Amino acid sequence: MLRSEIRNWLPEKDPQKLSWLWQHANQLRRETVGGKIHLRALLEFSNCCRRDCAYCGLRAANRKVTRYRMSAEKILTLAEQAARRGFGTVVLQSGEDPKLDPDWLAELIRKIKSRTALAVTLSVGERAPAELALWRQAGADRYLLRFESANPDLFRRHHPARPGHSCDRLALLGILRDLGYEIGSGMLIGLPGQTMEDLVADLYLLGKLDLDMIGLGPFIPHPDTPLGRQAGSSSSEQVPANEDMTYRAIALARLICPRANIPATTALTTLSPQHGLELGLGRGANVFMPSITPAAYRDRYQIYPGRAQLCGSDNESFRRIAYRIRAMGREIGQGRGDAINYLARKKRKSGGLS
Ligand code: 5AD
Ligand code: SF4
Repeated sequence: MLRSEIRNWLPEKDPQKLSWLWQHANQLRRETVGGKIHLRALLEFSNCCRRDCAYCGLRAANRKVTRYRMSAEKILTLAEQAARRGFGTVVLQSGEDPKLDPDWLAELIRKIKSRTALAVTLSVGERAPAELALWRQAGADRYLLRFESANPDLFRRHHPARPGHSCDRLALLGILRDLGYEIGSGMLIGLPGQTMEDLVADLYLLGKLDLDMIGLGPFIPHPDTPLGRQAGSSSSEQVPANEDMTYRAIALARLICPRANIPATTALTTLSPQHGLELGLGRGANVFMPSITPAAYRDRYQIYPGRAQLCGSDNESFRRIAYRIRAMGREIGQGRGDAINYLARKKRKSGGLS
């Protein structure tokens, strides 16, 4: 897809044209990744973070957060429970926890892989290549690292580097791919200062990175962060952090990366608890990642306020999600639900045709 086409779609107001975009993205989704919705069990195992992202409630400078790190036994029990409930993937997510012991995580991955058939996705921030290699060797399958914004100035301003460290997420994504991970990335929609041109560049970059998974969601202000206290720009070039712009980005992401797995993200379903799930999944997305983190911890994982009401941490809430998915006429995928894009890349690498 051309940059100019992306640029034209973003401010489109004509309901008929938009309806064409939704239908086209939905049909392409059906043809490329099929009708099933893959559910991922999101386990937020530590809210400790050494970074100070201006948009995130878990930033190190936010002293109001009561920090936690779950024990390996607790995580293992929750992962086993998720497998029994029918999940095919567990996503181990944390802040960029400075006390995360690489060997501890490697051992935990090994145990999850030996006791369950779960695919293991990691989402633990910017880590040293040696650690990423260790976890891959231990059996980790996938890694999520959003580039957040393709505009380097905007990225640096809102995601300051650690003193003495460079912060090149695109280089890390390349390393992750070379290690054989299935890789996921994406951006925030409506970050203060993000212009329409920036969002065009974000969407274009998704295609260039040959991603297997794409996570994108609306920016939701958190009151205890610099960006939660700052008034948003009223410029017409400022990308609005709303539902409508998120659907456009999801639909365009599907057209740009037809074979990727794309979730209706937690931020989208937080912004729109009533329809976010259905409209996201009906306009290009094919994955949902309900949190299975027990409520006592989940309440302390407030990247933004009101997060993850639509969770899967008990049987009743899991049933509610399954009901909503089936009411859309869609089925829940069984097994790992690897991205078609990843399977094709693996085949190409091993000399087969894709
Ligand atoms: N609103 C929406 N998404 C956010 N993230 C961080 N802070 C916010 C916020 N205030 C997203 C980032 C990060 C992911 C884990 O959560 O994109 O990569
Ligand atoms: Fe930490 Fe991630 Fe939040 Fe940044 S977005 S402060 S790295 S948890």
